[in-house]
Amino acid sequence: MRGYSEQHAEVYEDVLVSRGKNWAAEAQLVTRLIREACPRAISLLDVACGTGAHLEAFREDFTDVAGVDASRPMLDRAAARLPGVPLHQGDMREFELGRTFDAVTCMFFAVSYMPDTAELEAAVRRMAAHLRPGGVLVAEPWWFPERFIDGYVDGHLVREEHRLISRVTRSVRDGDTTRMEVRIVVAEPSGIREFTEYEIVSLFTLDEYLTAFRAAGCDARFLPGEPNRRGLLVATRR
Ligand SMILES: C[S@@+](CC[C@H](N)C(=O)[O-])C[C@H]1O[C@@H](n2cnc3c(N)ncnc32)[C@H](O)[C@@H]1O
Repeated sequence: MRGYSEQHAEVYEDVLVSRGKNWAAEAQLVTRLIREACPRAISLLDVACGTGAHLEAFREDFTDVAGVDASRPMLDRAAARLPGVPLHQGDMREFELGRTFDAVTCMFFAVSYMPDTAELEAAVRRMAAHLRPGGVLVAEPWWFPERFIDGYVDGHLVREEHRLISRVTRSVRDGDTTRMEVRIVVAEPSGIREFTEYEIVSLFTLDEYLTAFRAAGCDARFLPGEPNRRGLLVATRR
């Protein structure tokens, strides 16, 4: 099972806030799309929910929310901010909660961690299995192959009163995948620590995503652009 480590979970949100990520605004956009297709949706499952930042915002609009993630350290952070919300440790290709929801979300390209189209289809099938007929599935993909910039480098610095975090990344194309090297340095009065993680993210085509949704019994469309320039896949379960 793939999931974020403790040291990554510890800095995850701080680093992304410094890059301008706004989970509440993203959740508002997704809620609007869900309501367009399913005006009376009240239950929502966030797959690969991470630290629960989207769920915190979804909770304002949906009375019944739950989350799934592979990483215990990420779920621990979600549990701390979402008392009473059911949070399950599980792999998106295999999880079974024994119930359905009006909406299922999978944000920030988590679905694109699937290494090939067979596993992409397995993950989308599991998400669709947790949707009632007419329910809405919203997934944020990674870049499509034609939009990926080989050798892309990026970096951010977080300055806090007693802590400084730098995160630099370099993403290269390796066949049909992106290999992203993520190097994080955390400087505190007690010392400086550094770690490097390698993320492998698939460069699925739009057609491969749409095929996976169709195979899972969902009619999907792609909305380019928001929330992170990579667009959203929005599907309804038949
Ligand atoms: C890029 S983060 C996105 C987290 C959250 N959706 C957000 O927008 O902040 C990816 C998340 O996917 C989780 N993840 C990775 N592989 C997974 C899998 N096979 N099943 C479930 N979760 C997985 C990681 O633990 C991590 O929390």
